Amino acid sequence: MISHNELRQLYLNFFEERGHTVIEASPLVLQGDATTLFTSSGMQPLVPFLSSREVYPSGKRLVNIQPCVRTQDIDEVGDNRHTTFFEMMGNWSLGDYFKGEQLSWIWEFFTDTLSLPREKLYVTVYAGGSGVGQDEESAAEWRKLGVDDNHIFYYESNWWSRSGRPEQMPSGEIGGPDAEIFYDFGEGSHNGPESNESRFLEIANSVFIEYEKQANGTLQKLPQKGVDFGGGLERTLAAIEGEKDIFRTSLFMPIIQSAEEILHASYEGNASHIRVIADHMRASIFLIKDGVIPSNKEHGYVLRRLLRRAAIKVYQMTGGTDKLYDLAHIVPPVLNVFQEIYTSNTDPAQYQAVIHDEMDKFQHSLKKGLQLLKKKDQITGKEAFDLFQSYGFPVEVTRELLKEGGHELDMESFLQARKDHQKLSQTASVGKFRGGLAEESDQVIRYHTATHLLQQALKDVFGDTIRQEGSNITQERLRFDTHLDHKPTDEEIAKVATILNEKIQAGLPVKKCIMKREDAEKIGALSFFREKYGNEVSVYTIGGEEGKPETAYSKEFCGGPHVESTTKIGKINIYKVEKIGAQSVRIYARS
Ligand code: ALA
Repeated sequence: MISHNELRQLYLNFFEERGHTVIEASPLVLQGDATTLFTSSGMQPLVPFLSSREVYPSGKRLVNIQPCVRTQDIDEVGDNRHTTFFEMMGNWSLGDYFKGEQLSWIWEFFTDTLSLPREKLYVTVYAGGSGVGQDEESAAEWRKLGVDDNHIFYYESNWWSRSGRPEQMPSGEIGGPDAEIFYDFGEGSHNGPESNESRFLEIANSVFIEYEKQANGTLQKLPQKGVDFGGGLERTLAAIEGEKDIFRTSLFMPIIQSAEEILHASYEGNASHIRVIADHMRASIFLIKDGVIPSNKEHGYVLRRLLRRAAIKVYQMTGGTDKLYDLAHIVPPVLNVFQEIYTSNTDPAQYQAVIHDEMDKFQHSLKKGLQLLKKKDQITGKEAFDLFQSYGFPVEVTRELLKEGGHELDMESFLQARKDHQKLSQTASVGKFRGGLAEESDQVIRYHTATHLLQQALKDVFGDTIRQEGSNITQERLRFDTHLDHKPTDEEIAKVATILNEKIQAGLPVKKCIMKREDAEKIGALSFFREKYGNEVSVYTIGGEEGKPETAYSKEFCGGPHVESTTKIGKINIYKVEKIGAQSVRIYARS
């Protein structure tokens, strides 16, 4: 069986033999790149070269393996595939080769070099949209390589883009259609690899970088065509080992075993907790390695959040605050796994010192905080803020713990409490709360209000068949899933976008009303059917007459937070719509 070290070597050699220069991986914190906190893909440091603004000194064909941190996946960690830290195998063409070479090489690498069975591989290509047609060229390449038609699927989501540094690329992003490979672990029925998450695992993504987004939102061809390939090292190893759970692969097992030892608990019975611990420790160790230390700001806040979240899992499983320090035992196995790869900062003591220090800060307060949470099964935003302020409970952790007990945290009152505190201590601690959560939340709040408007605009166009099935908001975009029996036409989506932006421009007031559940139902407030509500509910209305929630344009059961006036949202574009099953669609929108 190929080990992870052999996999790395095979990948680098394969592309080196095909004229690629092996370039060093970038640090997780990129100096001077304000577009993101961490390196989250191998191409990120290469944007200026992929967009042809700069010429790369070591040639037009590059390859490496890049450690990445994606904090937006943090809530997904706990399942069998998501991590905040991962390594990406990447190869790039900077205006050199394109679809034909890339797809045939990557296919050869997976099927020949790694001997993955062809019948277990499914591939996908871009289905067209946003002014660019279906990627028939890639589909033809797949066929030429012998991929059966029933293993080729077309999706609108096969588009990848990334923004550059504003000083270089004021208009936004570069990107293009992508062609992905999925590994089939073979259980359950399916209607394409994106329809069954438990059966298929995406292992490879070849992005054909060809476009740059203009300030007006249209796409313009770049002067050169490029390739940006990213393949998950952990996931590829899972495919090689025929092990659907990446945490059970040889890359993770030593770490999992160490976690089992400190917890005196088996992975089988506690997989979700142990996965969080294993992932967060790997991520923390790599962040510390690249110079991050826990703090209340930006990069340091993310590290603090990862360490404290792992600590809470340990506490929940063992019940002992002194046990938190045992997290330091996980350092040597993590370093051991990577000993042949990363040769700097290899002394476990330096990581253990950071962990000990952070646990010193956290452990005094942890018990008290947890007791408080336990005693009052629901807490106010102000109390959540006090937990953060006095006990160092990251609010995300408080929110998660409350959720386990079936409660939502009122984020609006949390943010208000933080604002009040900031005013009080403005002179004393200027900037203490800047960054991290604060900056994140403004954009997230705007998208949250936009999501309410979007739902109502969809109802205006499609009627009552619209029913929210999910929603997910990041700093970059909002995503909304709804029941709908057909894929909306471009015309229909344009209508929705027009209504949405009219409502935004109209500067409608957004108001929160606390009311009896039956009253809220009477005025037709929308509820998300999977959630449970108490007798008193909080409803957000947008527009309508003052004091008459029934006249509002949008009415939804919701805990907030929201902007006060819809103009604060700014113009929103619906940039992607895809079908996610026979009766549902997924809509993406962003500023
Ligand atoms: N940059 C592409 C990705 O992250 C390869 O999927």
